[in-house]
Amino acid sequence: MHLEQEFESVRNVGREAVRRAGVILLEGYSRDIKISYKGEIDLVTEVDWASEKEIIRVIHASFPRHGILGEEGGIVPGPGSERWIIDPLDGTTNYTHHFPFFGISIGFESEGEVLYGIVFDPLRNQTFEAVKGEGATLNGTPIHVSETPLLSRSLLATGFSSSQPEDPRRDNLPHFNRFSRKVQGIRRTGSAALDLCYVAMGALDGFWEIGLSPWDTAAGSLIVREAGGRVSDRQDGKHELTSPLIVASNGLIHQEMISLLSEVTC
Ligand code: IPD
Ligand code: CA
Ligand code: CA
Repeated sequence: MHLEQEFESVRNVGREAVRRAGVILLEGYSRDIKISYKGEIDLVTEVDWASEKEIIRVIHASFPRHGILGEEGGIVPGPGSERWIIDPLDGTTNYTHHFPFFGISIGFESEGEVLYGIVFDPLRNQTFEAVKGEGATLNGTPIHVSETPLLSRSLLATGFSSSQPEDPRRDNLPHFNRFSRKVQGIRRTGSAALDLCYVAMGALDGFWEIGLSPWDTAAGSLIVREAGGRVSDRQDGKHELTSPLIVASNGLIHQEMISLLSEVTC
């Protein structure tokens, strides 16, 4: 199969996987669901598991030899470097409280590089998508980061890792404190994947968080970059999927964000 044809199938599989997972999320949203705890405050539901299982089924129906890294334990090594990185429900806490902000995030990686990403918000029927080198879209229409030039004119978002209470190195409050005096506002939406997409479409000017996992950022960070934004680690170096801190922005306020983050050493 030609590379282009194969890539078209990657895109089709991503779209089909989020569409089917979206049906599962919406169905679960309207009834009582089983909730379990991964930690003191870290939730997982039967819907997270059902969504991941369905996404993996769809991927393996077309690409049986591709590897899988799924948040809820769906880890299947493949013989090659192709790997799908899945967050079957980003925003589980929102979901269980009926706070209407959550999504599904899927990234496709080859030779260590994310080449395709899709994030789907089933309540708003919004699909954010990016192919490396081809730009980013929302429901098929190209999107771009904002043109806000200064931190003092910016609206940011952040999040707090559910492991934060036990790990002082992941304490985001000192950063939150500093940023809150310098920006117009900070949102804590509860879905890192959607936060990144909101940076990509210019509704947010920047986002940072400590302690995210590859499934939270694989798709969203490609979508930000392809929308003309910048994604880095805390020293403004390359953001790897395992980097402890992510900074994403419209590019124009990036340096200001990096210098403010450097004021707290942890
Ligand atoms: C969480 C959300 C949240 C972020 C947490 C993540 P989950 O993902 O993205 O916004 O602040 O760090 O763990 O657990 O709902 O998939
Ligand atoms: Ca997540
Ligand atoms: Ca999740």
